[in-house]
Amino acid sequence: MKSLIDFFERVEKLREQLNVHNYRYYVLDDPSITDAEYDRLFHELLDLEELHPELKTSDSPTQRVGAAPLAEFQPVPHSISMLSLSNVFDFNELQAFDKRIKDRIKNANSIEYICEPKLDGLAISLRYEQGVLVQAATRGDGQTGENVTDNCRTIKTIPLKLINHNIPNILEVRGEVYMPLSGFTKLNEFILEKNEKPFANPRNAAAGSLRQLDSKITAIRPLAFFAYGIGETSEVIAETHSEVLKRLSSLGFCVSPGYQIVQGAQFCQDYYEQLIQKRHTFDYEIDGMVIKINSLALQIELGFISRSPRWATAYKFPAAEVTTIVESVDFQVGRTGALTPVARLKPVSVAGVIVSNATLHNMDEIARKDIRIGDTVIVRRAGDVIPEVARVVLECRQHNTKTIESPTHCPICQSAVEKIEGESAIRCPGGLHCSAQCKEMIRHFASRKAMDIEGLGDKLIEQLVDKSLIKTAADLFQLSFNRLASLERMAEKSAKNIIDSLEKSKNTSLNRFIFSLGIRDVGETTALSLAQYFGDLTAIMQATTEDLLAVNDVGPIVAENIRAFFDDSHNQQVIRELLAANIHWPAMPQKSAENKLSGKTFVLTGTLSSMSREEAKEKLQALGAKLSESVSKKTNYVVAGEEPGSKLQKAQTLGVSILGEIEFLKLF
Ligand code: IVH
Repeated sequence: MKSLIDFFERVEKLREQLNVHNYRYYVLDDPSITDAEYDRLFHELLDLEELHPELKTSDSPTQRVGAAPLAEFQPVPHSISMLSLSNVFDFNELQAFDKRIKDRIKNANSIEYICEPKLDGLAISLRYEQGVLVQAATRGDGQTGENVTDNCRTIKTIPLKLINHNIPNILEVRGEVYMPLSGFTKLNEFILEKNEKPFANPRNAAAGSLRQLDSKITAIRPLAFFAYGIGETSEVIAETHSEVLKRLSSLGFCVSPGYQIVQGAQFCQDYYEQLIQKRHTFDYEIDGMVIKINSLALQIELGFISRSPRWATAYKFPAAEVTTIVESVDFQVGRTGALTPVARLKPVSVAGVIVSNATLHNMDEIARKDIRIGDTVIVRRAGDVIPEVARVVLECRQHNTKTIESPTHCPICQSAVEKIEGESAIRCPGGLHCSAQCKEMIRHFASRKAMDIEGLGDKLIEQLVDKSLIKTAADLFQLSFNRLASLERMAEKSAKNIIDSLEKSKNTSLNRFIFSLGIRDVGETTALSLAQYFGDLTAIMQATTEDLLAVNDVGPIVAENIRAFFDDSHNQQVIRELLAANIHWPAMPQKSAENKLSGKTFVLTGTLSSMSREEAKEKLQALGAKLSESVSKKTNYVVAGEEPGSKLQKAQTLGVSILGEIEFLKLF
């Protein structure tokens, strides 16, 4: 009789062998056994696992076939944000990028760059603990992604278990899930045979396949993965990016192929030009190159600006250009009433995406490009950039083209439009009487960075305004469950969720509230400065233009806009109603305490038990602190919650002060 231990050993052995064969086949493209031999080993393992289900593990090669369908994807906060890249589009911009870096770094002569193809797929973060894949998440908004672990398990080039020894306890691997062109063509042929709608391009196909709630569907889609970086790690694994790539390769990943270390903008340009020549020889789409600084220490020194690192940029391939015809021009009304001309085009495929609208920006732009209705134009789209009309093909102009007239009345509410002096825009003065502005205003009010009303999407806002159920943001809080549930396509559960999120949103912060009002030119940062400076709403509403000018980043125009907003009796009424609906916020710190942490830079890592990361950030900012994503010598404090990431280690190495949760709470 075989003991359970014998079974266990055999199962372990089979898994190890299958993992190696899988790696040789999919990653190295160099199998050492036949498919039949592989199948035999695989089935032996399947049988043993069936006999002893208690021996099943998540990293077993048998677990790549897909799991039970999910109802929805769960959110996954990224302990280290997944950033996006700034762009350069020509050699001049590349030189400017190089110069910006060299201006910031002392020993700038010998900076090494690493050039890589920019893969056109979806960014994914894979978390390995003790060498085993435990979580896969999409990028999402960079801070929080979606849990797509079951789906990623089905991708053969994603190791379920890292090979090799000497693996850090925690390792997050970042890279791109993509669909090889050969697989994409076959998939679309298959879809067409079933008379269904094919995917527009491999990127959409990859995204659609990865975001399947049923991982059994993902399992039969031809997806693959290239690693190009790391997120959180429990130990420092390399000193340069090229070492990171080598290390990832030795752990069992396909790394972004064809990378090269170079020095200086000219050599980056050379790599770029070679890549343009070679791009069509790859079995996957690339949309440019990525230039990164090779030294990880320099990457940390340079840090980030907004959501992109200063140490890297994307150099996109020239935009795809296609000719088409301007069939008509409509004017769209924005939140502040600005009317934007939009060209309705004869639909064309630009770089694989069907384009039927393109913004014409404003009347000056139309005059400059001399665009007329009926003209043949060149439409351009670069990467995710919104399509635009690059120029008119004058040789094709017919005699019957029509000039585009600036509208005299708002197309939505028919108010006579105004031209704002000194601006090229024309505006509808209808304010909230104009349903287009009303919708945009409410959309802004409910948005994530404003009142964050979950579930109140564009379609619903449209329905509510069109049915005259709401006219202002304050009306949202008068909506009853029955009213919502009686709307078309509204399930009771969704109605209940919306009522709950409206209730939840009432507990906010002064700066969010100010931002959500949609005062022209008052963005998140200005709203925060106003809240910090004045401390309460009444003070802001009563401030004179001179008072307002004393606030950081408030100039004369913004001060006028703020004054005009609060002088409007309708706005005052909406604010009264919002407050009456019990929208509230904690008191802002008194002026004396306001600048307690000014000039101090904080970095957050790990999870705090008393508050979310967003709340911690807001509290620190309220005391004047600056928040940064990465630890450098300039960091004053690192706040370490539970399960801190590599930022904590970095802080220890650099001798930066570390605050635990209790010490952090004492600051307030
Ligand atoms: S590095 C902060 N390397 O481009 C570093 N990204 O616009 C960010 N991408 O979301 C990532 N190929 O999906 C990096 N070799 C490469 C890449 C690459 C494609 C994508 C990635 C990212 C986006 C940034």
